[in-house]
Amino acid sequence: MTVYVTRRARFSAAHRLSHPDFSNEKNLEVFGGCSNPNGHGHNYELEVTVAGEPDPLTGYVIDLKKLKALIEEHILAYVDHKNLNIDVEFLSGINPTAENIAVACWHQLLPHIQGGRLHSVRLRETENNVIEYRGE
Ligand code: NI
Repeated sequence: MTVYVTRRARFSAAHRLSHPDFSNEKNLEVFGGCSNPNGHGHNYELEVTVAGEPDPLTGYVIDLKKLKALIEEHILAYVDHKNLNIDVEFLSGINPTAENIAVACWHQLLPHIQGGRLHSVRLRETENNVIEYRGE
């Protein structure tokens, strides 16, 4: 039996999408408004799902209080109210697309998940755009 447990977290951050070899014009063509030279912000929603069998004693796959604390300690503490291009060591040198942020968040959490196994990290960048990474 596998049960999936999801914790949602929110953070606000600035970023600029660009490729260093592209001109400003080319970056604007490829990345649109997300390539504004001085950056812009998003209110992100992160959903972390852990899969596993409920523990026979607690009935938990993972204690959601612990999952909340892990997300705060290993992700939110680094990214909330930060510039993702400049301030975040685990995104250093990475173009901070939602895809790349989701993958980086996966690697931030993976070593710390106990009990269940990390199943997915979903990152909602706008109301309509959601990215999911499952570690494959
Ligand atoms: Ni953007």
